[in-house]
Amino acid sequence: MKMTTYLAKTPDEFGKIHYTGLECKVWQTLIERQTPALKNAACDSYIDALEKMSFPSDRIPQCDEVSKKIQQSSDWSVTPVSTLIGFDRFFNLLANKQFPVASFIRRTEELDYLQEPDIFHEVFGHTPLLTDSQFAHFTHTYGLAGVGATNEERVMLARLYWFTVEFGLIKTANGNRAYGAGLVSSIGELQHALSDKPIVKKFDLLEVLRTPYRIDIYQPIYFVIESFDQLFDLTLSEVKLAIKSAQEMGMEEPLFAMN
Ligand SMILES: [Fe+2]
Repeated sequence: MKMTTYLAKTPDEFGKIHYTGLECKVWQTLIERQTPALKNAACDSYIDALEKMSFPSDRIPQCDEVSKKIQQSSDWSVTPVSTLIGFDRFFNLLANKQFPVASFIRRTEELDYLQEPDIFHEVFGHTPLLTDSQFAHFTHTYGLAGVGATNEERVMLARLYWFTVEFGLIKTANGNRAYGAGLVSSIGELQHALSDKPIVKKFDLLEVLRTPYRIDIYQPIYFVIESFDQLFDLTLSEVKLAIKSAQEMGMEEPLFAMN
């Protein structure tokens, strides 16, 4: 497993995390740069949800503030975690409608790209759509599917998460738009995903489960859903059945060099 060079920020006795002025400046740079980049690139559901969250631009919000905003629309909350958590904890949190949030923020020299999720990715990228009842329902189903799953099944489930929650596209009247957190929080990959460079396919559960990915490159392939209904309608038993079929069929050929 890749080692992180970041340290988790520990809350004080009141549950508050103290960020330095420099860290808040990084947040400000990111939020001020990313918000206008979403126009004609992120889907309306995400943009509307982001407005509802009304994140401060001059400081990093605290987890309890973010939870309060989410809870105006759904019963999810966020919980601060250390930089990297294991599958067990991850799936258990989601199954309990708690979204894990890495609390550190990237350094200035990694403004454009970092491989591990920081608080900008987590809060700006992930939390707005937890206010959307269909998307939140899917995330919960996903968490339930992972609880008690084997490691091999969890590796498959990680691909479903990757190609939806992280890098999903959605069809709109104006063309494809991003809803995945890895896209809406990334200035570079958002443009790449909507350019003519990657392959874009219709979302197909079985194919997604069988499609390999790398975390350290812009994705060569994205999957586009028709609407959030498509994710909302996925049942736990359907997902479990698809994992079995995917295991029998084996993996698709990777569209990138293996490293
Ligand atoms: Fe993420």
